[in-house]
Amino acid sequence: SELHSFLQQLPKCEHHLHLEGALTPQLLFSLAAKNHIQLPKDDPAYASPEALVERYRKFDSLDDFLGYYYIGMSVLLHAEDFEALAWDYFQHAANDGVLHAEVFFDPQAHTSRRVSYDVVHSGFQRARQRAQAELGISSELILCFLRHLPPADAMSTFEQDAVLASFGAGGVVGIGLDSSEKPFPPELFQAVYSKAEAKGLKLTAHAGEEGPAEYIRSALDTLKVERIDHGVRLIQDPALLERVAAKNIMLTICPMSNVFLKGVSSVAELPLREFIDAGVRFSINSDDPAYFGNHYILSNYCAVQEAFHLTTDEWIQICNGSIRGSWCSEGRKEELL
Ligand code: HPA
Ligand code: ZN
Repeated sequence: SELHSFLQQLPKCEHHLHLEGALTPQLLFSLAAKNHIQLPKDDPAYASPEALVERYRKFDSLDDFLGYYYIGMSVLLHAEDFEALAWDYFQHAANDGVLHAEVFFDPQAHTSRRVSYDVVHSGFQRARQRAQAELGISSELILCFLRHLPPADAMSTFEQDAVLASFGAGGVVGIGLDSSEKPFPPELFQAVYSKAEAKGLKLTAHAGEEGPAEYIRSALDTLKVERIDHGVRLIQDPALLERVAAKNIMLTICPMSNVFLKGVSSVAELPLREFIDAGVRFSINSDDPAYFGNHYILSNYCAVQEAFHLTTDEWIQICNGSIRGSWCSEGRKEELL
């Protein structure tokens, strides 16, 4: 695609990547075989990796995708499985020119299957250390709560000893909120966000993917987030858009995800030109690349270029904003800039 090598070599930061969303159909089937996990027999999508890839092309909504996402992760049982998953992602990220990655994970989706938090966290930690040592990729972990589960479930997860022990430098730096957006507004999770803020954790939340701009406002006002994941529906509220720009709130935009989940009919429909003109900071990310046509971050950059024909200066501004909006140390930011 257009300007491919220029886009490849840009110093990229990824801020919106669900590690469980990097589970390719190939790895899904091989872990299912290794771990003796029975995939659903009543869904022809699980006949083969190829059939699954075909089914993934037909998602009609976030919830349709999430059904497959939660079944997929049922094959993850051991620390080595979580390590293999994250290592697969980091290799793709390195190929795409990612230097720094802030990655989400969904502990409740594992602990509810009686896979312990330590198993999940230690597997991811090993892959992160390997990515740093062998690929030069720095990374941070962001623990996401599942908004379709009761807020009390998020709170009891947060308060587990193993979870508390994982917070801080080198471990979990922040929290997020994901899964089915409507009808679960951000304010339901105010108590756990307030506890996380008191512990010095960074705060973000998915908002304005399928839900209204009002959910973005609530995430800012009640959860006190400093980022919004997706946030494309910000365009529906000009006053809020101005506020987001003035406060330098970063949106973590996922173009191919929005197309695959039918939030927009094409990348060109995203309000990226309006965001640039209004001074809204955003980064470009892959979300769940293994579920969305294997479009890792560079493929998302290329899709944006094909749709918007940005100038090299505009690309450099996007990358600089992504570095400045990252949650790495100031020293690491200086290296990346
Ligand atoms: N939105 C909400 N929940 C998710 C997503 C997403 O894009 N990806 C994985 N869980
Ligand atoms: Zn997401």
